[in-house]
Amino acid sequence: MDGAASDTAGGTAGGAADDGAGPTSTTDGVELAVRALLARADGDADAAVHHARAAAAAGSLLGHALSRYLDPAAGAAAAAGATAPVYDAPAAFQAFVDGGGNVELYRRTSAALAAVYRRAPRGRVLDLGCGDGLAVVPAVLAAGDAAPASVDLVEPSAALLADCRARCAAAGLAVVAQAPTPTPTPTTPADAPAGPTPTDGRGPAAGTTVRTWQTTAQQWLGGPAAGQRWDVVESTFALQSLPPADRAAVLSAVADRAATLAVVEFDVPPEPATPEDRARSLARRYEHGIAEYGADRDLVTQGFLVPVLLGLVDPAASRTNWEHPAATWAADVAAAGWTDVRVEPVADYWYAPAFLLTARSGTRG
Ligand SMILES: C[S@@+](CC[C@H](N)C(=O)[O-])C[C@H]1O[C@@H](n2cnc3c(N)ncnc32)[C@H](O)[C@@H]1O
Repeated sequence: MDGAASDTAGGTAGGAADDGAGPTSTTDGVELAVRALLARADGDADAAVHHARAAAAAGSLLGHALSRYLDPAAGAAAAAGATAPVYDAPAAFQAFVDGGGNVELYRRTSAALAAVYRRAPRGRVLDLGCGDGLAVVPAVLAAGDAAPASVDLVEPSAALLADCRARCAAAGLAVVAQAPTPTPTPTTPADAPAGPTPTDGRGPAAGTTVRTWQTTAQQWLGGPAAGQRWDVVESTFALQSLPPADRAAVLSAVADRAATLAVVEFDVPPEPATPEDRARSLARRYEHGIAEYGADRDLVTQGFLVPVLLGLVDPAASRTNWEHPAATWAADVAAAGWTDVRVEPVADYWYAPAFLLTARSGTRG
């Protein structure tokens, strides 16, 4: 998740806070959290800890989360090496998407995908970066008679894909092939290769054949999947995980291999003028987002939100997200060869509004 400052309201940091006198409001605390982020951006780890502690003392939830993550005296997650890629050990990510504003966001996202399926009934669908299936599986079920005939699910995280397969089985969908690497897909569901039969014994709920592939979108499309075609290629909050050059290559690779593209992402504000404005915008939004979590707040912040945030501001941290305003996404999709690009709102959300982008293949066939 990336973003910029379109908001200008808010308090200023009390100068006394740095001197130990302490700020007096959460707004001051958020401003101290901004200083912590800027210190990380400057490579000043000690100053970052100092400001994070002060932010936490001032009542900032983000300050508390940063302090826990960065402060060696607090058992710092970063210092302890708990900085594995956020989707490889995904308990925190899954707690995040299962709670707060994500409940309504995902309900609307699945409804938006189901509406796309109804415009291409019984089609072949490819989902890039499906995660644990929280968006795509309910969408398939909600589409009813228009549910896809087949769905290819591509996801590099073994843990998330295993949970996705379990979600499919629990929903009564037939997972007929589970491949660690791409292999040619059949031309019709009836030609599906022999593989594990439906794991729950109930059979396919929607007559939908599901194939799962543990690999990246880049590897999938550049490998034996080359030459395959789909009616719908979709991705929800996953193309943001690809660096822009890789994403452009992926969008181009599917531009003449699918009739419809459907992407759900966040319409983040334009890039701000200064690093300070960018850090401030992120800090204010994260403060709201973190407040949506209660008992699992530490899990969500330490295992997902803080590492993602630091990846945006700290050059030494692993970056997990490259995001843009919706207009930039639309331009990138058009540049990749898609036509009839349309953007519509999906949901308001603390980080940024979510949108559905749809487009048609320029060579539709
Ligand atoms: C924010 S999650 C979204 C997951 C799911 N689409 C959803 O809506 O819940 C981003 C997903 O992108 C996946 N991802 C990261 N890099 C990827 C890549 N190169 N190709 C495909 N998926 C990728 C991650 O493993 C993760 O599951």
